[in-house]
Amino acid sequence: MTKLSCIILGAGKGTRMKSDRPKVMMPLAGCPMIRHLIATCEKLDAQKIVTVIADGMDDVAAACSPHATAIQEKQLGTGDAARAGLAGLGKTDSEFILILLGDAPLVTVQSLRKLIDAAKVTGLSVAAMRPADPAGYGRLATDENGLVTRIIEDADCTPVEKNIGLVNGGNFCVRADRVGDWLAKIKNNNAQNEFYLTDMIAIAGAEGVSCAAVEIPEDEMRGLNTRAHVAQAEAVVQRALRAAALDAGVGMVAPDTVYFSMDTQIGPDTVIEPDVFFGPAVTIGAGVRIHAFSHLEGVTVEDGAQVGPFARVRPKSHIGAGATVGNFVEVNRSKIGAGAKSKHVSYLGDADIGAKANIGAGTVIANYDGFEKQPTHIGERVFIGSNSTIVAPITIAEGSYVGAGSTITSDVPEDSLAIARSRTVIRDGWAAIFQARKQDNKKAG
Ligand code: UD1
Ligand code: CA
Repeated sequence: MTKLSCIILGAGKGTRMKSDRPKVMMPLAGCPMIRHLIATCEKLDAQKIVTVIADGMDDVAAACSPHATAIQEKQLGTGDAARAGLAGLGKTDSEFILILLGDAPLVTVQSLRKLIDAAKVTGLSVAAMRPADPAGYGRLATDENGLVTRIIEDADCTPVEKNIGLVNGGNFCVRADRVGDWLAKIKNNNAQNEFYLTDMIAIAGAEGVSCAAVEIPEDEMRGLNTRAHVAQAEAVVQRALRAAALDAGVGMVAPDTVYFSMDTQIGPDTVIEPDVFFGPAVTIGAGVRIHAFSHLEGVTVEDGAQVGPFARVRPKSHIGAGATVGNFVEVNRSKIGAGAKSKHVSYLGDADIGAKANIGAGTVIANYDGFEKQPTHIGERVFIGSNSTIVAPITIAEGSYVGAGSTITSDVPEDSLAIARSRTVIRDGWAAIFQARKQDNKKAG
């Protein structure tokens, strides 16, 4: 197997995103784009993966962990960034180095393998593509054998060169024993006064090493410079995730309206109704139904459970087998036991709810005292009557009942009834007397 290391260039500010956060932290399917690339490099069994960042990009460094980062002091161009990455790699016995753009995160393992194979033949290869609109990309000048002689950046193109449809996708695979010398020779005498990584091609060419072009589909190789590009890439990712879910036996009548995260896991025979959103860290078992317009993140839903419609399930939650979380129910950092039911309009926060408990419509768990969140324990088979407020911290022990409309502020023992509301007062004939009096007043007035 080829010994390989990867350098990912991610130090650019990404000005065109108009965002305070680094471009490579923009999420695709709920996961920073840099993580997509790192996962791809891991699948290539790279010996080392180093991401080039600017000083202070601690969030990017954290997203790259456990892999290393290297600091590029000033953003002087992709050539300079690659030098910083190479210094960060240190000594390796890698035969080839992949240099990848951090803002082109959807390139696949298969395409990178082709890039590596091409570099094994010539010593240097570049990812090429034919985008619908080549504007903004470096254009590839090729010889009669299709080998790349140089890359002309968009800003440096003559009007004729702008018509070239074959462009630089940005990724390179290069012989590890030569790359240091070639990068060192890159100069910044161009329209943008930047050190262009692309100049490596002419430098290698002068030393007798030609550059092969490996064409990669635009959907994989598109550079994400603007929010519009990110949205296009998101559409590509979502299409792939939906197709994978359908393949895995997940039922969806309107897959185009369902949004997945990279790590969403769903078991077979689960049905996802239209307009459902899966944030990060959702795992769903088999035979579950997620009804329309539900929003889930950070939850495990066990087999046979029902969620929604219009349910919101927030992180650190667990919904047991066969449990029901119904319409307009919000679950937050809570465990709903097997077969338990909360079917209508409730807030369940920081609660551990036992198996087969029944939480009536309009139940609210008051889990916040203005400073801290407080826990609630509701035992197995507990019945909470409708429109109850359960004030945490509190334990409602198994088998007990809470009368509808109660505000419960102290622990409830097993198998008991707790009622905390005013008694119903009946006044016989009161309504007739009241109405008669009102009629008399009207006539008199
Ligand atoms: C680059 C290529 C262009 C190619 C396009 C493909 C160069 C000179 N140009 O242009 O030929 O068609 O990608 O998408 O290589 N970066 C750094 N440090 C820097 C500058 C950039 O780390 O000093 C990183 C950025 O974070 C980014 C990547 O390198 O992830 C590419 O930089 P960007 O400025 O987006 O290059 P493009 O203008 O898109
Ligand atoms: Ca770019």
